[in-house]
Amino acid sequence: MSEKEASVIVKPFGKTKDGQLVHLYTLTGAGGAVMDVIDYGGRVVRLSTPDRQGKLEDITLGFNTVKEYEANPGPYFGALIGRYGNRIAKGQFTLDGQAYSLPTNNTPAGVPCSLHGGDKGFDAIVWHVEPLTEGETVGLKLSMTSPDGDQGYPGTLKVDVTYWLTPENVWKIEYEATTDKATPINLTQHLYFNLKGQAEGDILDHTLTLFADKITPVDKGLIPTGKITSVAGTPFDFTAPHLIGERITAKDEQLDFGCGYDHNWVLNNPKGKLVKAAALFEKTTGRLVEVWTTEPAIQFYSGNFLTDEVPSKTPGKKLCRRGGLALETQHSPDSPNQPNFPSTILRPGAVYKSTTEYRFGTKE
Ligand code: GLA
Repeated sequence: MSEKEASVIVKPFGKTKDGQLVHLYTLTGAGGAVMDVIDYGGRVVRLSTPDRQGKLEDITLGFNTVKEYEANPGPYFGALIGRYGNRIAKGQFTLDGQAYSLPTNNTPAGVPCSLHGGDKGFDAIVWHVEPLTEGETVGLKLSMTSPDGDQGYPGTLKVDVTYWLTPENVWKIEYEATTDKATPINLTQHLYFNLKGQAEGDILDHTLTLFADKITPVDKGLIPTGKITSVAGTPFDFTAPHLIGERITAKDEQLDFGCGYDHNWVLNNPKGKLVKAAALFEKTTGRLVEVWTTEPAIQFYSGNFLTDEVPSKTPGKKLCRRGGLALETQHSPDSPNQPNFPSTILRPGAVYKSTTEYRFGTKE
């Protein structure tokens, strides 16, 4: 028996600074979860899931207006990320003998790189959105075409992303893309979680499990060195559950470079099956989210660059450093320049496909 009637409702959400209309889609799932999505960046603005008493709380960071999203692009709150999630060293790569140059929109430790698709990535465009209903499952199909040369990337890239909200409180994301010239592609979703509720303090008290025993260590510019190393005996070992705050200040060069956790864990998933990548739990509310993916890696970012200067959705309640965390399923950073990492090159005639599920629940 469903607790609610599943539905999709559309309302105006405002306008971008260049005058494009932005809409808000409210997906109410039969299992009780409610998700608000805007067509600007395919962003999840609010996501409310039941705690162990059944009380709904918004557990994701976001803003109340388009203006705030445009003025604060840096944290990529709730956004679809493309063409390339994560970093590309120096904003450069060579493909089939041709050199390409991307905007260098990020400079960790003063070292320039291209981050999350460049100056105007998929997080900052208005997607075409079509509401979907299949039985008791509601969804949105988000589509866009990235023109040849967009942010320096080759090929016309056609992208469809489908968000589904199931009666089991699963948010399923299906990515699909085709191109007319070979191009790197690495799509992801940059939702932040705070399972106590957004603006309810930091996430250091959340318990994380990562079903991965290796990371791709980075240099001070947060670019992978190319090595793939074991997490055993390091603060990166989340193969058994650990509080995020437990080792985040440990003396460790990788933690220094990331100012906390901002690293890529390699999943044991060579065949691209849907595997469990992560589990995040918060004990006072009992909220639990499992992350399942067909991707070979996951970026865990502990919100190290968030501050109380980032506007909050709730008047009187400020955000704070590490006020949310992201679990971004993807291929490893800088793959176009890393011959030992699984390829991120999509060629004409092939179809890019990727699935990620965030499964919401509770436990005692
Ligand atoms: C990713 C990056 C972080 C940071 C956030 C957005 O997770 O790895 O370094 O840029 O996006 O702030």
